[in-house]
Amino acid sequence: MTALQFQGVGVTFASADGAREVLRGIDLQVAPGERVALLGRSGSGKSTLLNLAAGLLRPTQGQVIYDTPPRVGYVFQDARLLPWLRLDQNLALVSPPEYHPDIPSALTRVGLAGRGSDYPGQLSLGMAQRASLARALLIQPNLLLLDEPFGALDELTAGELRNQLSRLLRQQPVTTLLVTHHPGEAVLLSDRVVVLGGQPTQLLGELKIDLPPSRDPDDEGLLRLVRELRGLIHTAD
Ligand SMILES: Nc1ncnc2c1ncn2[C@@H]1O[C@H](COP(=O)(O)OP(=O)(O)OP(=O)(O)O)[C@@H](O)[C@H]1O
Ligand SMILES: [Mg+2]
Repeated sequence: MTALQFQGVGVTFASADGAREVLRGIDLQVAPGERVALLGRSGSGKSTLLNLAAGLLRPTQGQVIYDTPPRVGYVFQDARLLPWLRLDQNLALVSPPEYHPDIPSALTRVGLAGRGSDYPGQLSLGMAQRASLARALLIQPNLLLLDEPFGALDELTAGELRNQLSRLLRQQPVTTLLVTHHPGEAVLLSDRVVVLGGQPTQLLGELKIDLPPSRDPDDEGLLRLVRELRGLIHTAD
């Protein structure tokens, strides 16, 4: 059984000089509850792939198939909080009323206890990303899309948030597509890493991450897989 399937997916965007083919022949099957990391260069089409998974974009070729209607939680590349609404209002805006009583505990789970009445402008970048994660998890998604969730953060803060996300995903398991530039993050947070590359972008390789769910970023087995992944990225280049 697959939760999500890309079948021969291609995307071509119209551009000023004609057409730009961004993705070609993407075949990817994601099992229910599986966490797949997508790794590729800037501009390779990673956000485009997430937008296809979210149904925000239709493929030019092929199709995206779900086994059950997706309830998507999406952490965008930037936090995308509305600056004129408080945090709790930002979360309420995109969730059905039955989830509103859960907003304080959703904020607590990401380390933002008692900050619901803050405005986004009163938050650090890391706190804003936590809030966007709380917003995505609030509706108990069956498909979680994470687009470089910690890409704009310093390494220390990103490391803390990676560990926190790893714990959250163990508490609330969900089929996940994680886009990242960071091989360590990919291995820490996924069951499988898919490497994208080429022109137009295709799937060039993948690495299965056979590690227990509870992971230590400094564990020797994990670091070995990070090295293996770096090798795979270099051969894909
Ligand atoms: N709506 C759009 N219309 C036209 N071109 C687009 C559109 N969305 C993305 N593109 C183009 O598709 C390519 C891939 O963009 P995308 O944002 O998916 O890359 P990415 O891998 O997420 O990059 P980054 O790592 O920098 O976030 C780029 O060349 C981009 O200009
Ligand atoms: Mg992107």
